[in-house]
Amino acid sequence: NWTMQNFIDMEVDKIRELVGDRKVLLGLSGGVDSSVVGVLLNKAIGDQLTCIFVDHGLLRKDEGDQVMASLEGKFGLNVIRVDAKDRFLSKLNGVSDPEQKRKIIGNEFVYVFNDEAAKLDGIDFLAQGTLYTDVIESGTATAQTIKSHHNVGGLPDDMTFELIEPLNTLFKDEVRELGLELNMPESLVWRQPFPGPGLGIRVIGEITEEKLEIVRESDAILREEIKKAGLDRDIWQYFTVLPGFKSVGVMGDGRTYDYTIGIRAVTSIDGMTADFARIPWDVLQKISVRIVNEVKHVNRIVYDVTSKPPSTVEWE
Ligand code: XMP
Repeated sequence: NWTMQNFIDMEVDKIRELVGDRKVLLGLSGGVDSSVVGVLLNKAIGDQLTCIFVDHGLLRKDEGDQVMASLEGKFGLNVIRVDAKDRFLSKLNGVSDPEQKRKIIGNEFVYVFNDEAAKLDGIDFLAQGTLYTDVIESGTATAQTIKSHHNVGGLPDDMTFELIEPLNTLFKDEVRELGLELNMPESLVWRQPFPGPGLGIRVIGEITEEKLEIVRESDAILREEIKKAGLDRDIWQYFTVLPGFKSVGVMGDGRTYDYTIGIRAVTSIDGMTADFARIPWDVLQKISVRIVNEVKHVNRIVYDVTSKPPSTVEWE
């Protein structure tokens, strides 16, 4: 009978047989899927796996350090962390259109990854956290562990890898179960969905370091309070956005003119449709008071009460 432990044993055998004494490269994003692939491959082939973690400077508070502490520290993965913040921010400088921001971040990701990959010798395989749902959606691939000689989008023509996609028969909830079975921490296994462009699409319009800092700090407070209230498993995604306009407030005897923070929290099954989460007023109030008191240059908090459709989950 099928158990997750059997799945692990079988995959480990399969991966060992396929890879032999050759080398595998994996791009880590900090999300659940690529992290689980990393831990599974590490179990199978240890040091023959090299991971590249591109830190684009648009991650949430402490996220990069947590990924490193867990995957490199606890599990002993071979991780190259690339601090590419300056590279991303300079490319994004002055850009305010959401689609253009997405495109720049996506492209830069591939460039940075390729630059690092090119420094490595003798890599034969590229591992990816493709899920069964991705396989169905793309409609082209078949659900098997290996698709041979796929050219990976964006990589130079002379760089050809075989793909290893050990999760491509699993659904998201099974990947989480697999992660737990591999002793990965719940904080990583139950991580809420986070878009590739990260905080770059949660600072609305032009991105500056100051705005990133405001959205990062307010988001950390929101997450802390949602967890304290025991709502973190019920709400699909919860985060803050910085619309970028200023409004008038009053603090002490003085007038303030500062930023507004928007709180977005939705329930959903798959992100395709979503409903705004009915967070209790007293929890919202606590979050509001803390953000205004603890994050500089914020004097107003609004709660997004639209569902998807007609809105989207993200504001950009
Ligand atoms: P929207 O905003 O389209 O989001 O309702 C639906 C889900 O997708 C995530 N999302 C993204 N994920 N790259 C990603 O990897 C992106 O550019 C992107 N845009 C949105 C969003 O967080 C939500 O889970």
